[in-house]
Amino acid sequence: MCGIFAYLGPKTNAPELVIEGLKKLEYRGYDSWGVAAQANNRIDSCKKVGKISAYQVGDHNFAASSLAIGHSRWATHGGVTEANAHPHFNADHSLALVHNGIIENYAEIRADLESKGHKFVSQTDTESIVHLIDFHLKSMSLEEAVKKAMSEMHGRYAILLIKADEQKIIAARRGSPLIIGIGQGEFFVGSDIPAFLEYTNQVNYLDDDQMVIIDQEKAQFYDLKTNSPIEKRLITIEWQASQAEKGDYPHFMIKEIMEQKETIRRALEQDDQEIQKIAEAIKGAFGTYLVGCGTAGKVCLAATYQFSHIGHRHVNFAVGSEFSSLQDFIKDRSLMIAVSQSGETADTLEAIHAAKSKGAKVLSIINVKGSTMDRESDFALHIKAGPEKAVASTKATTAQMAVLTLLAYACAGRLEAGKKLLLDTQSQINDMLNPRYEDHIRTLADQIAKVESMYIIGKGVNYAIALESAIKLQEISYIHAEGFASGELKHGPIALISQSTPVIALISNDQSRKDVLNNCQEVKARGAYVIGIAPENDAVFDFWIKVPDAGEAQGIVNIIPIQLLAYHLGLLRKNDPDMPRNLAKSVTVK
Ligand code: F6R
Repeated sequence: MCGIFAYLGPKTNAPELVIEGLKKLEYRGYDSWGVAAQANNRIDSCKKVGKISAYQVGDHNFAASSLAIGHSRWATHGGVTEANAHPHFNADHSLALVHNGIIENYAEIRADLESKGHKFVSQTDTESIVHLIDFHLKSMSLEEAVKKAMSEMHGRYAILLIKADEQKIIAARRGSPLIIGIGQGEFFVGSDIPAFLEYTNQVNYLDDDQMVIIDQEKAQFYDLKTNSPIEKRLITIEWQASQAEKGDYPHFMIKEIMEQKETIRRALEQDDQEIQKIAEAIKGAFGTYLVGCGTAGKVCLAATYQFSHIGHRHVNFAVGSEFSSLQDFIKDRSLMIAVSQSGETADTLEAIHAAKSKGAKVLSIINVKGSTMDRESDFALHIKAGPEKAVASTKATTAQMAVLTLLAYACAGRLEAGKKLLLDTQSQINDMLNPRYEDHIRTLADQIAKVESMYIIGKGVNYAIALESAIKLQEISYIHAEGFASGELKHGPIALISQSTPVIALISNDQSRKDVLNNCQEVKARGAYVIGIAPENDAVFDFWIKVPDAGEAQGIVNIIPIQLLAYHLGLLRKNDPDMPRNLAKSVTVK
């Protein structure tokens, strides 16, 4: 959440370069934005409410500058106003600071500084940081002032600070991501890699309680706890800049849906021995807990069915934010499997820290290599989906499901059978994602675009996919959508069905099919418009979306038409499918 970007180097268009970088990070927050650039011993700045993508070169007349920081905001403290947009400043505008995270004791810091005469102009927690640094600066160097302020702040943060008369960027982190891109004589700082991928693929990650001071010569890292310098090894990022671009597609969401023609295959490119080792760890663990948030959480729930049915293992599941209430059962022989696209989700990271504090081992299934989860886990499996930029997860979801299905097969000693099934599924998806298929789903979107509510039902793994379908439809169409276990309808939710209410049934060609079709009859008898997503048609369906029969991988194929439906409903309802309201990618706050 919140995009941060900075540049320091020989180029003299740093503010415009930072704005371009922020545009690439807009999926992290898009309610307001701002840039501060150092020029002629002063700080020039520009802040605006709205999306940074609306900015055109020349909209603000920046002086030539080779040092600038910027931020695109997802509001936490204080409404969406120019005053609350970052950067925030001290009284004489000699310091400018951007921040991602939440400072939990900001109210105390602010009250104390106000009593000492500091004047605040925003409602943000962030402004208290820059005033605190300003306060300490009266009696110590800039570096010491930042360190002291960091030691006094509670909560999560990634901050960047510049000073009007010093050619340097100071960055510090606890909990929220910051990556330093090292170019040829130039430096970038971003909260995600795609922001600077066109300039460099050589990076250093800032870890918790670390600070970096970047000047024209070098990036020097410090451990804030021991107050000592640290050396870091450069990491090469394998993503190409073009992978993070839309190419010929109108939106990242549809591009990423279509990339599923090959992402399952890439997810399967794992080291067999590593997979077997992890399967043994699952089998030997004293309790295995799958943990993820939002869509990743639904992937975890789906995997509990896969581990039971395919791997004959019982695994537990919790959403990241609930894990702290379940952690009493974690022992030093337990295993946590954390699932995350970004590898930065705060609630999942907190669950990882809780598990590790009890001595449990952690396996992460993640997309972003080098992310905090990658670095903090005992084992990691990368899903290799490439950058996912649309806020709604699509290709990462199915790639995560593929890796977990593979692990379930490995637990049963049937790794090769799992690979074959998933490779077959990949070619089925390739055939399915054609223009005629999309047109068929667009027809359905046209029919239901004006409804107020819709329901999605499924049994077994399709129950988890029904819950994930609801998330996808809610966030992109803004239509009220809810997922249920189909057998649960008659225990309450069936009261919601009235004439023409769309009910989407997700069906597998297995023993669950008969039950779900019966449940379809029950809602149809009460007037529902029944949409079947199933390998075979049935008389109960008012609208049928054919999916391939993918056996144990049915959950993977069943979510894809829902992704397309959500996308087209979003377009018809004039929503931005890539940047849905109130949301942002990579939820780095609790
Ligand atoms: C919804 C969506 C979110 C994420 C969730 C976890 O489409 O993308 O629900 O799944 O915020 O994010 P990661 O996977 O980055 O941990």
